[in-house]
Amino acid sequence: MSVLRGKNILLGISGGIAAYKTASLVRLFIKAGAHVQVIMTPASKDFVTPLTLSTLSKNPVHSSFYNQDEENEKWNNHVELGLWADLMVIAPATANTLSKMANGTCDNLLIATYLSAKCPVYFAPAMDLDMYKHPSTIASFTALHNFGNTIIPAESGELASGLSGEGRMAEPENIVSFLEEDLESRLPLKGKKILITAGPTYEAIDPVRFIGNHSSGKMGFDIAKSAANLGASVILVSGPTIFKADHSLIKVINVVSGQEMYDACHQYFDQVDVAIAAAAVADYKPKHVATQKIKKAPDNFVIELEKTKDILASLGIIKKNQFLIGFALETENEIENAKGKIQKKNLDLIVLNSLQDKGAGFGEPTNKVTFIDKDFNIEPMELKSKEAVADDILNKVIAHFNE
Ligand code: CTP
Repeated sequence: MSVLRGKNILLGISGGIAAYKTASLVRLFIKAGAHVQVIMTPASKDFVTPLTLSTLSKNPVHSSFYNQDEENEKWNNHVELGLWADLMVIAPATANTLSKMANGTCDNLLIATYLSAKCPVYFAPAMDLDMYKHPSTIASFTALHNFGNTIIPAESGELASGLSGEGRMAEPENIVSFLEEDLESRLPLKGKKILITAGPTYEAIDPVRFIGNHSSGKMGFDIAKSAANLGASVILVSGPTIFKADHSLIKVINVVSGQEMYDACHQYFDQVDVAIAAAAVADYKPKHVATQKIKKAPDNFVIELEKTKDILASLGIIKKNQFLIGFALETENEIENAKGKIQKKNLDLIVLNSLQDKGAGFGEPTNKVTFIDKDFNIEPMELKSKEAVADDILNKVIAHFNE
């Protein structure tokens, strides 16, 4: 999955012949799952039409400070556009536009938006080879580099002038891979490995029956997705669930019983930096598993149960530098019970769910949690979607690595 998926990309187009290639660029952004808005300088409209770009981006194209053609004249709010963007890409960036960006010459909507944008800015220069090497162009590159903007270097080849050399705008495919690699390298959990448990476990009674619980696995899968989106490699050990992980950084290990989950966790634990136990592991399992289907008896039927292994506690015993996070689902004396689990299982952080809170727990799309760290600092959170709770948990992980 591309790191551009779900990102808001503001594409600024200035007036060079390479502007015709931006139609492909917009298509590639959309294909990668990004949302795209386009701002054109007046000169760029001679090279590619706004209609083409609005059709491909599925959004109106902005070019002047207000729309003259519309029935109700509307001001194009460059501040709003700048704030909307997760990243701004100026391609092609002509010598003129680069100079205006470097000097704050705010005479069109593209530059006004550039000056308002707080997001990372990338620019893909396009010009003739002598212009590309001119000291004034180099001075613009230096100024923009010092502003924190990133150059997508021009490529060498045949130029519109008929000359051959450096100055061609990077090909759209190369712009996309440049952005993906650069954004991935900036992700806060890049290079970290995280083990996550998710879902219920099924403890066999006989070949057709089991003891299980109502855990859907959603919380663990949301945590895995959030971790992978932040650049971490995830090993997701999951009990039976309907969820699928659709991310190249997530490796799913499917298990059924608590013992299988225990074995998988112990296989990977020494390789990881973080472990998050979100699974609802059955606390008990039948002492004897019948090899044949148990037949109905006339009287009551009793199954003798024995305790399963506590996976999280067993990881707490062997942990070295791993940051260990557990969950606690409580119905009474919540804070005290959760603190007890931090100590008993040697955790760094516990995520407490109280079943007294509406919207928390199994089968809900939402969760309301309280974080308690190993020093017993307590942080109650609002009721949120499980995706947002997952992001909060990963923010705790990021904060740990920034300590
Ligand atoms: N856990 C585990 N293995 C088990 C039981 C629980 O790894 N056999 C993990 C869960 O994934 C969760 C945490 O331990 O992160 C807390 O589980 P919970 O069931 O709330 O607590 P228990 O320790 O089982 O205590 P109790 O059921 O008595 O509340």
